[in-house]
Amino acid sequence: MRKMSVASAPGKTILFGEHSVVYDEPAIAGAVNKRASVKIQESLNNYSTLKSYDLGFEVILNTRRGTYKLVKGKPGIIRYILNAMGKFHDHSNIDMTLGLNLPIGSGLGSSAAVTVATIAALHDYHGVPITKEKLAEEAHGVEQDVQGIASPLDTLVSTNGGLVYLSREKRIVRFDKPLDAPFVIGFTNKYGNTGKMVKHVRHLKDNYPELINPVISTMGKIANEARIAILKNDIDRIADLMNLNQGLLDGLGVNTYELSRMIYTARENGALASKITGSGGGGSIISLCKNSTVDNVANAINKEDSTIKVKFSGEGVLVNRRSPPFN
Ligand code: MEV
Repeated sequence: MRKMSVASAPGKTILFGEHSVVYDEPAIAGAVNKRASVKIQESLNNYSTLKSYDLGFEVILNTRRGTYKLVKGKPGIIRYILNAMGKFHDHSNIDMTLGLNLPIGSGLGSSAAVTVATIAALHDYHGVPITKEKLAEEAHGVEQDVQGIASPLDTLVSTNGGLVYLSREKRIVRFDKPLDAPFVIGFTNKYGNTGKMVKHVRHLKDNYPELINPVISTMGKIANEARIAILKNDIDRIADLMNLNQGLLDGLGVNTYELSRMIYTARENGALASKITGSGGGGSIISLCKNSTVDNVANAINKEDSTIKVKFSGEGVLVNRRSPPFN
């Protein structure tokens, strides 16, 4: 039998604290029920391959050099996989299959999900046990290498699952109860580039520290207020805080015409709040709705853009359907 390992990890949606989390401010994010899955099999050839039916690409890999030869399609997310392989693979020949039911660049953490699943599958394939804590740390290292700057938020949420509060000290605290409110995620076909957006905010912060530092620390305060509101399930307050956070994200210049269009469409059709989720510059928005308005909001967004139905999910990384640490 061919040696084989399979791992999967969820995407995420950020409710509070994108961008400010890069500067150690607290944030709140939840894993969603859309995942990346990575299957690794011993290769019968004298080379390694990576293919994705979901993303429509196929490549021959040179894992030692971190390069690839294209057979078919556009391998959008491959830099994360190559970086992980450079660190955690012994360069034996393998066939890798990537499944992804999240759009790339949608702000829903596809790169973190792919990275966490890849590292988890590689560790299992090589029989190297790893704890969730270490896995999140290694995945964060890959995101930093590829993006230049990255907070540990996406990879922590993808590894651990659930709705979490990330403190200034980088400790994650899971909320016991899921938020009892319907959300709609709207996304444009204009993909966001996280690295580019993070660099844009860094540039602003470097050039106007006296103006931008207070904006970033206010975003952190909003996340702290939101933690209390979520614990009380105080939906009106959560909504106010989301809208406030959106105003500040707009001020940081990560909004786009399409994101704004969705935000105002959602608000005008009964959403209690609507904001960018993730890095912006394209990608997605998240709208907090009432049960009575959720369909209205989704239908209105769908006229010009698209929605994805996601639910928060408690399930983090899984290896051969088990939770790590795994042996
Ligand atoms: C991207 O999902 C969230 C950002 O805060 C970047 C990061 O935390 O690495 C924009």
